[in-house]
Amino acid sequence: MNVKTLGQFVIEKQADFPYAKGELSRLLRDIGIASKIVNREVSKAGLAEILGETGDTNIQGEKVKKLDVFANEQFIAAFKAGGEVCAIASEETEDIISIDSEISKTAKYVVAIDPLDGSSNIDVNVSVGTIFSIYRRKSLSGPGTLEDFMQRGTEQVAAGYVIYGSSCMMVYTTGKGVNGFTLDPSIGEFCLSHPNMQTKKDGLVYSVNEGNYLHFPDGIKKYIKYCQEEDKATQRPYSSRYIGSGVADIHRNLITGGVYIYPCTTKSPNGKLRLLYECNPLAFILEQAGGKASTGEKRIMEVDLKELHQRTPLIIGSANMVDTVMDFIKKYASQTA
Ligand code: AHG
Ligand code: MN
Ligand code: MN
Repeated sequence: MNVKTLGQFVIEKQADFPYAKGELSRLLRDIGIASKIVNREVSKAGLAEILGETGDTNIQGEKVKKLDVFANEQFIAAFKAGGEVCAIASEETEDIISIDSEISKTAKYVVAIDPLDGSSNIDVNVSVGTIFSIYRRKSLSGPGTLEDFMQRGTEQVAAGYVIYGSSCMMVYTTGKGVNGFTLDPSIGEFCLSHPNMQTKKDGLVYSVNEGNYLHFPDGIKKYIKYCQEEDKATQRPYSSRYIGSGVADIHRNLITGGVYIYPCTTKSPNGKLRLLYECNPLAFILEQAGGKASTGEKRIMEVDLKELHQRTPLIIGSANMVDTVMDFIKKYASQTA
């Protein structure tokens, strides 16, 4: 059988970076291991209470942990044990976690993470994910600082996501294309299944929470109507697909072609999604796959990060579809201005 594991692949690719000493490879391996543990727990989610009651998982009588807290702890533990990062930023933690340990003193990287994306979908057996983003530190040594994270998305060294779906998959980029690995549970390894992933320039799917329609900017409202119109030449109407797990929606659109939109609304003028550990890593992947990611005004990866948990509107996916959304935004912004 001709399988290439994530571990083998990462080591082979290290040759693309002549000065690499293997730290990034080890960091990606750490993420792979933590995500396998999270996958194991996610796949048992429906059993949590049964197992808890029989005492199988909960000898101490502790309350069964929520999976987003569990995932957060697993990734933090993996990063601390791995020694390749000097600080972690997580959606689940208000401040950064500086790592003050002997093995992390000389660590070159910091990592930002959404440990469990789409967590509201867990109770209903729908795909969830993990998103990660890796930067080179700015500080020189010792525990990492907040400043180490205050970088633009264009500075990312690597980014990726794991999707805990009908199969478990890891997709990542180091800026030289995008590769996807599917977990083979029989051998416990992520195996290269989607080499050099590219997304279509034009897709036939739009993904947006239309429940918020009344609060969307005019340009987005008009774009949604455009998607619904009949037009043979552009194969409209497009299909509407929205899971409510960003990783799963964006992963599907990456494979089939499509656009995912989480716009600003009258209630949330900056949108909902976070720049550091949701939008930037997903933008890096989509751009590397030939797609685009925008706030509606500018490229996501060129936005300055001023606060750790900063939010931004997001339009991401097939390049021509993102451009069309931008055209609508421009057109209707100038009309109402
Ligand atoms: P998280 O579970 O990490 O808080 O992220 C949820 C995000 C994202 O995954 C999803 O696309 C979006 O929120 C869904 O939001 P709505 O329910 O407002 O549509
Ligand atoms: Mn999220
Ligand atoms: Mn989350």
